[in-house]
This record gives sequence, structure tokens and C-alpha cells, in this order.
Amino acid sequence: MNPAGPAANRINTLWWLMFGVATFVCLLIGALVAIAIFRRRGPDLRESPPWAKGMVYGGGVAFPLVVLAALAVLVLHDIGALSDPGNQRLTVDAIGHQWRLQIRYPQQGVATANDLHIPVGQPVEVRLTTIDVLHSFWVPQITAKTDMIAGQVNHMTIEASRAGVYRGQCAEFCGVQHANMIFYVIADPPGAFQQWLSRQQQGPSTPTDPTLLRGQQVFESAACAACHAIKNTSANGRVGPDLSNIGGRLSIGAGTLPNTPGALGGWIINAQTLKPGNRMPPMQLPADDLQALIAYLESLK
Ligand code: CUA
Repeated sequence: MNPAGPAANRINTLWWLMFGVATFVCLLIGALVAIAIFRRRGPDLRESPPWAKGMVYGGGVAFPLVVLAALAVLVLHDIGALSDPGNQRLTVDAIGHQWRLQIRYPQQGVATANDLHIPVGQPVEVRLTTIDVLHSFWVPQITAKTDMIAGQVNHMTIEASRAGVYRGQCAEFCGVQHANMIFYVIADPPGAFQQWLSRQQQGPSTPTDPTLLRGQQVFESAACAACHAIKNTSANGRVGPDLSNIGGRLSIGAGTLPNTPGALGGWIINAQTLKPGNRMPPMQLPADDLQALIAYLESLK
């Protein structure tokens, strides 16, 4: 109900129009029912008044036909307008996993997860698919729902008309953690977005701080690197989300927890207690190594 993009604007207007028409029809029917109940009957109940036939054909057939047909035309028109690609200059891949969103900027070679950065006021093409079960991409303040289907790529255009963070939600039941499949669309002014994108293209540099360096070594030598990738390191796992900018993300576990050192530590030690059924196994690490690992991951932005 608080649209922040042209597609959501259109849907919002259509919603209010349909709400208005439905309210009018509901009140009209209510009034007619009330008249029928309370109207004083004539002496002969078998004789219907002369206007009764007109009421049945006019109010019962013609009126709904006209109203529903008019709404159907408007809806079809809006569906057509919503699938208009517009002048897209940027393409993003969003790939559903149980239960997170893998995000790629294919032209720039950037990989991230759950936080979808876009420039304000520019239509962005999103190519949607899934590697496992059905998911659905939905950012209510920006755009309509589109299903993510295995073996098929669905295209949609998203555009935010003002800067901000817009919560997205998987809208197709996809397993026990469906409700914890949350993502965010982060709309930044074009300059700030380009800065973010170039920083991601470069990737993190090798830390000079001894604690952070230790953290990177722990990441590369422990089991982390088997499943996760971090740009410019030897970690190249493909099972879990890419962590090249994990420290800059809004949440941990696709919206399950805020991105704080404490939450990240808890997630590393035993993510199964926080989001049961996700694919991250519990990790046993010496306390010093864990602290260094958390500091290192939080430094990646
Ligand atoms: Cu993915 Cu529900």
C-alpha cells in the first residue's frame, strides 16, 4: 500500500479501483436485500411487480457482465504494461535455493546473496530461476510476484522510484524455512550504486591486520571454503552463498538474523539451531580462530 516503483504504483491504483467497485457493489446488493426484506408486501404474493423482470436481467445479468468485463480489460491492460521490459541497461540473475536467493550481475562478474542492489529510477532486468523447488520473487513495494521455476528463466523488470531498502519475500511455499526466505532490494542513487558495483567487481584485498589475515587463513583452511567462495582468495566453493561481501549485507540466513558479529558467530557454530534444515553444518572452531573468522567476515564489504 506504499508503492515505491512504477509497477507497484500501477498495482496499487488497480487495487484501490477494484476495492472501490467491490465496495459499491457490496453496498448496492446489501441495500436491495434490505429493501426486499422490509418492503411491505401487497395482498397477492404470487403477482410480481412489473419491474421485477427488469431487475433480474438488468441487475443480475447485464450489470455484473459489464462491471466484470470492464475490470478484466483493465487488469489485462496492466498485466501487459507490467511485462513491458522498458529501457533496461542492467541485468541481474536471481536464483532461488532452499532457502535463500543467489544473486549475480553477469556482465560485471559480481556474485552476492539476498541483498539485491539496484540504481534508483532505472529499470533493471531480473532473470529468475531456481536450482531446486519452486520459489516466487515478490517485493510488494516495487513489483508483482513472479514464480521461479526450475529449468526455465522468467524475466521481469524492477524499478524503484526512490532510494531505500525494500523487503522481498519468497511467495511460494518451498519447505520448512519458506518464511525465512527473505531478501532485500536496496535502491541507491546511481552514483552510489556504481561505486558499490565497482567495489564488488574489484573484490576484497588481502588483509594487512594480523587478526583479519588469521581469519582469512581459517576460512581457507577450515571446511568453510569447501562450500563458500570469497573473491580474490582460494575459497571457491559453490554449495553455499558467495561471501565476498558478507560484512556489508543486511542480514544473515536470508533475513533470519540481523548481521551482527554475535549472530554471525552463532550461525557459524550451529546454524541448525537458528534455521533448522538449512545446509550449513555445525562448525567446531577454537575460540581464537572463531573470533578472527568473525572479524574477517564482517570486514568484507
Ligand atoms: Cu522459497 Cu518459499
